[in-house]
Amino acid sequence: MSNKIDLNEIASEQLHEIDLNDVELKAVAPQMEPQRQYYYMAKAKKYVQELSAKLGRPLSFSTQTFGCQMNARDSEKLVGILEQIGYVEEQDEEKADFVIYNTCTVRENANLRVYGRLGQLNRIKRKNPHMMIALCGCMMQEPKVVEKLKKSYRFVDLIFGTHNIYKFAELIVNRIENERMTIDIWENTDKIVENLPSERKFAFKSGVNITFGCNNFCSYCIVPYVRGRERSRDPEAIISEIKRLVADGVVEVMLLGQNVNSYGKNLEHPITFAQLLQRIEQIEGLERIRFMTSHPKDLSDELIEVMRTSKKICKHLHLPVQSGSTRILKKMNRHYTKEGYLELVDKIRKAVPDLSLTTDIIVGFPGETEEDFLETMDVVKKVRYDSAFTFIYSKRTGTPAAAMEDQVPEDVVKDRFDRLLKEVQEISAEVCSVHTGTIQDVLVETVNDHDSSLVTGRMSNNILVHFPGDESLIGKIVNVKLNECKGFYYIGEMVES
Ligand code: SAH
Ligand code: SF4
Ligand code: F3S
Repeated sequence: MSNKIDLNEIASEQLHEIDLNDVELKAVAPQMEPQRQYYYMAKAKKYVQELSAKLGRPLSFSTQTFGCQMNARDSEKLVGILEQIGYVEEQDEEKADFVIYNTCTVRENANLRVYGRLGQLNRIKRKNPHMMIALCGCMMQEPKVVEKLKKSYRFVDLIFGTHNIYKFAELIVNRIENERMTIDIWENTDKIVENLPSERKFAFKSGVNITFGCNNFCSYCIVPYVRGRERSRDPEAIISEIKRLVADGVVEVMLLGQNVNSYGKNLEHPITFAQLLQRIEQIEGLERIRFMTSHPKDLSDELIEVMRTSKKICKHLHLPVQSGSTRILKKMNRHYTKEGYLELVDKIRKAVPDLSLTTDIIVGFPGETEEDFLETMDVVKKVRYDSAFTFIYSKRTGTPAAAMEDQVPEDVVKDRFDRLLKEVQEISAEVCSVHTGTIQDVLVETVNDHDSSLVTGRMSNNILVHFPGDESLIGKIVNVKLNECKGFYYIGEMVES
């Protein structure tokens, strides 16, 4: 009995070294985090082992992630916990014992897709009584959604939100012990729990959260309501996570936040995003730094200077414009004008000449006239983005824009959207091709899906290139000559450095 581990006596940073089979489960769960979650992981592991022994096979899980990089990173944390508990990954959702949907609600069609797939899951679950279904992510932070699930989707086992994903193991145990739908949604919290497991999708690159939530309240956007107020992670926690990742083979990190440029403002010892980048730059073994997303209103001269002199920050900036009309930008609550945005772009391009610029654009925001739309087209023509994500405005209940009058008719929006997309695509094919014939540093990511004699890698400017190679190159940075531009990507060949 006595050689069992009392989690209360283990420091947070040491927890990942313990064997969960040795954890003392007779004691009550620790109050402290993350110790408490390791207790529940150990407990869940026992349940999984028991069921697995009964069935004579391991239990499996499948995750589906919708939405942005934030959700992708959250899913890696969920998978980290599931693997600690003893689940193995199953690609085919229909065969999995535990299906997890990490949802997005930024636009209406994201929600509709989830409901559609849930219908299919219900059919499969009837044939597999061991199947558990969990729903989490942004959609669950909407009370209306949870009401609907409670009423019409009773077969769902576990529902939780964006603030308490760290409690996944505790919620699983709760569900197993109570045998009924477990719902745990938090409205908001300041809490950031560190030192929990996570399982990366790629061995050589990783997302790293630097802020959670958003304070900007762009009038169309639901994110501040479902992700809560902005909280910055402690710089020491970020640095030590990246050092750990690098020791584990990571060469590229993507720093994640809804508005990375406001990082650090509300910390007890405030630091700027540019200062954080400078500290990250010093981490030995780390080769590339990316970040997402930059709000134009908070992009500082200090940051531009750091980007100019950095050896590791990639030559890519995602700078969402949303609209080119100053009038619409004001109604969107974006806090910049068309001219201000264009000046900012000029300034950055002067400082970092070979920078690739990408953006997000919304078409059909309430009250958008043809004139406003032409302003957006004008920005696209002036900036000449490497690529742009274009979205049809989607009305999100609860946001100020949803209550605005003169919503734009569907056919008008569709017409503008098609014109914009055409312009964006033509420009981006032209912009992309300017690198033809150059030699670039490329981080090899995968063996090519369609042709296994090729590998696919990413340049610093985020453009992909396919070239002859094999699996042994994955995770390495190599020199590639860009022979031919195929619109949005290149075909190339490896050359000696
Ligand atoms: N924090 C990031 C964006 C996160 S959401 C930023 O401020 O840039 C990703 C993109 O979804 C946004 O940039 C916006 O273009 C789009 N989006 C958000 N709400 C939308 C809505 N209601 N309708 C259509 N597109 C929307
Ligand atoms: Fe949404 Fe604006 Fe926040 Fe981006 S900055 S998440 S668009 S509210
Ligand atoms: Fe969607 Fe949530 Fe990201 S609403 S875009 S998954 S923050």
